[in-house]
Amino acid sequence: MKKKYIIGNWKSHKTSVEVEKWFVESSKLCEKEKRNITNDTTIILCPPFLYLSQVSILCKKYALPIKLGTQDISPFGTGAYTGEIAASQVREFAEYVIIGHSERRTYFGEDETLLAQKIEQARKANLIPIYCIQDATTPIPQDVPFVAYEPVSAIGTGNAQTPATVNEVAQEVRKKREIDTFIYGGSVTADNIESFLTFPEIDGVLPGSASLTATAFWEMIHNASHI
Ligand code: PGA
Repeated sequence: MKKKYIIGNWKSHKTSVEVEKWFVESSKLCEKEKRNITNDTTIILCPPFLYLSQVSILCKKYALPIKLGTQDISPFGTGAYTGEIAASQVREFAEYVIIGHSERRTYFGEDETLLAQKIEQARKANLIPIYCIQDATTPIPQDVPFVAYEPVSAIGTGNAQTPATVNEVAQEVRKKREIDTFIYGGSVTADNIESFLTFPEIDGVLPGSASLTATAFWEMIHNASHI
């Protein structure tokens, strides 16, 4: 079996009641799926910060094989940084952090300098950064081995890039840099997940919309389980 990552990014979706519902449904769906999920599969969920604690409790309550990540972190440590969540605070609940998503770059003006600070904070707190690139030319900070390729044209549009193209981009990036894990995000669904994961250079996927309902999320896991 191939080592693979399935990482749900909830973005700014859900209320605490909807979170609870997702987990109640997931507990049933996961029960059916459990024997198909091997150690080669890493399932990660990135909820809004606000629900990290709730999600962490629900994962334990239902014994779900889900690790936690966040969608961002502060470029600073703990201290007088109103409104920010520091990496060490995230680390209480999560192991992973998405850094440099195109929505952060576009709507919050995050640039390479700021993103490098976030990578540094993640490293200090022992969080694994999932660094998003928009194409093969996006600079990647030093010693970042986990990269998510997320072409803007494919995000939330239903127009996923072809797996063959993603595989080529992965090869191109790996020619320049040593990358352990290369994943793809942009309109991944239960219908196309398999086609991405069968390509040798693609180690996982980062679905947004398709992670929002428990049914769609576990259907993806089901369709990926034999690869
Ligand atoms: P999408 O989002 O699956 O809704 O296209 C992917 C992402 O932005 O990570």
